[in-house]
Amino acid sequence: MGSFPEHRPRRLRRTAGLRRAFAETALTPSNLIAPLFVKESLTEPHAIDSMPGHFQHTLESLRKEARELATRGIAGVLLFAIPGEKDPLGNRAWARDGISQRALRALKDELGDELVVIADLCMCEYTDHGHCGILAGDVVDNDKTLDVYEKIAVAQAEAGADIVAPSGMMDGQVEAIREALDEARMDDTLILAYAAKYASSFYGPFRDAAEGAPRFGDRRGYQQDPANREEALREIDADITQGADAVMVKPALPYLDVIREAKDRFGYPMAAYNVSGEYAMLMAAAQNGWINERDATLEVLTSIRRAGADLVITYHAKKAAEWLT
Ligand code: PBG
Repeated sequence: MGSFPEHRPRRLRRTAGLRRAFAETALTPSNLIAPLFVKESLTEPHAIDSMPGHFQHTLESLRKEARELATRGIAGVLLFAIPGEKDPLGNRAWARDGISQRALRALKDELGDELVVIADLCMCEYTDHGHCGILAGDVVDNDKTLDVYEKIAVAQAEAGADIVAPSGMMDGQVEAIREALDEARMDDTLILAYAAKYASSFYGPFRDAAEGAPRFGDRRGYQQDPANREEALREIDADITQGADAVMVKPALPYLDVIREAKDRFGYPMAAYNVSGEYAMLMAAAQNGWINERDATLEVLTSIRRAGADLVITYHAKKAAEWLT
């Protein structure tokens, strides 16, 4: 590298055209995935207070919203569904006429292949205790839970999900789901593994939106400790070995180092989830006039892409797509 005065780094930044030409990281609507919530037996969309601009949808309003997102060129949607009834075993998660399966059919019917439809695969919205699997006493029984995840995966794939995204952090979940899908001849369905998912305080607003907060205890027995980096890389390695088509790090901003290291180490398709608390925090500051929503959002999304994520799952997808075009 040369030195001053032959080299003047400011030359590259002089005009908007130069800055655009030499930008190292691109952010486009096709990098973005929008999470959507649908709730059984709602008659009209219900606003989520802690997530301004977001709703628990009816099947009808879900279709409309997805149609609008498709028009703006975003890559896909990630569906979360809230059933009318919960039970200890989460049976409505894999029912053929369960709300998630009905919503997946509605989305596919509305969009065909215009948007990638991803189904979140977990049980916390469906169990009355709010944990992500089958309980044995006070703990989630890993292997019993895998049997249920297999049934959910097949039900979601049959309903039209392009991708299933297991988010429960059970050991062996990717392998179990891959085998179940293949056995059901759903070998074209992809798996996006929530591979490194931390036990984070940034999921707060989501738990209102999805009505899946644990009734007792927390998720530290299955989600990861924020202190751990090597463990995250082992989790990602394991999920790739078990057959994940793409892996995810979640949340995004507090774990940019993990995203970068995973991308460098594995060179594998990767998503990062800019979660509900990250969105709520930014929105609260913007609504107070303390930061500029547009600029802060585009900076955040660019930073997640720069860290190495191919796809960013974000509650800002719709607005960002508009700002970017
Ligand atoms: C459920 C799930 C959670 C999120 C996605 N899937 C919550 C949790 O693990 O408690 C969080 C998403 C967000 O905060 O935006 N397993």
